Amino acid sequence: MDGTQAPADSTPGPSPARSAAWDPARYLRFAGERARPFADLMSRIDAELPRAVVDLGCGEGALTASLARRWPDARVTGVDSSATMLAAAATHAVPGRLDFVAGDLRDWAPDGPVDVVVSNAVLHWVPGHEEMLSRWAGWLPPGGWVAVQVPGNFRAPTHALLAGLCQSPRWAAALADAAPRPDAVAEPAAYLDVLTSAGLTADVWETTYLHVLTGPDPVLAWVRGTVLRPVLALLDEDDAAELTASFGAALRGAYPVRADGTTLLPFRRIFAVGTRSS
Ligand SMILES: C[S@@+](CC[C@H](N)C(=O)[O-])C[C@H]1O[C@@H](n2cnc3c(N)ncnc32)[C@H](O)[C@@H]1O
Repeated sequence: MDGTQAPADSTPGPSPARSAAWDPARYLRFAGERARPFADLMSRIDAELPRAVVDLGCGEGALTASLARRWPDARVTGVDSSATMLAAAATHAVPGRLDFVAGDLRDWAPDGPVDVVVSNAVLHWVPGHEEMLSRWAGWLPPGGWVAVQVPGNFRAPTHALLAGLCQSPRWAAALADAAPRPDAVAEPAAYLDVLTSAGLTADVWETTYLHVLTGPDPVLAWVRGTVLRPVLALLDEDDAAELTASFGAALRGAYPVRADGTTLLPFRRIFAVGTRSS
């Protein structure tokens, strides 16, 4: 999944045919596959009784709600800039215990120390996010934790094929600037350096999940919820259909249907967890 620029619910630029808003229902189609890396990330946080927990880029809030279940005595806050995601998240809210607030992670700050900072599948939307991660580490009291996960698949066919199309003569005038950037995330060692430079003990790793997808054009369906969304938002309806058809054909070649009808989507993810010694 995942893309290029920080998404907003309205896209600047000339009369896009469709909103760039996040679509919680489309995003949730692969909720099981997306929950697994979150669970793997959370398994490395060893906080017992945190009082303040924040989920930065909380999206539609289901995973944030799982933080409130894990730490029932904590006050959990989900922060996101997407009105559509926040509207979906509101259904999970428990005022005073689990709250969702609008904010841009580039400048949002808590009103006190935070014992656990989580950000899952978000940082790649924010260019230069290493500085942001370092700032978040500064919020932690002794015994505090920060945990982030980013997709590490910006050179995979899902992204490279889309970037190639965006930069092709047919689409470059409209889409060259929207092409997924191969450097949207750093390599694991860079996140390790950010965390240790902030005085934390770091635990950084990567995993490639092999997602077994079913149904017609399942990889296209996956990327429609993420990396393709801001690209299509720049096109009118006919052009969006043409680009989607070309991209779908390229994806079918890169991710062929197997004899049993399934399609495999290898998906690399990078995890970084840091803790401040108590
Ligand atoms: C791929 S979704 C991940 C949602 C959730 N963390 C999860 O794992 O299901 C990325 C989320 O990050 C949010 N986001 C991206 N850039 C942001 C920014 N600069 N400020 C606040 N939220 C941002 C988007 O609105 C979106 O809800």
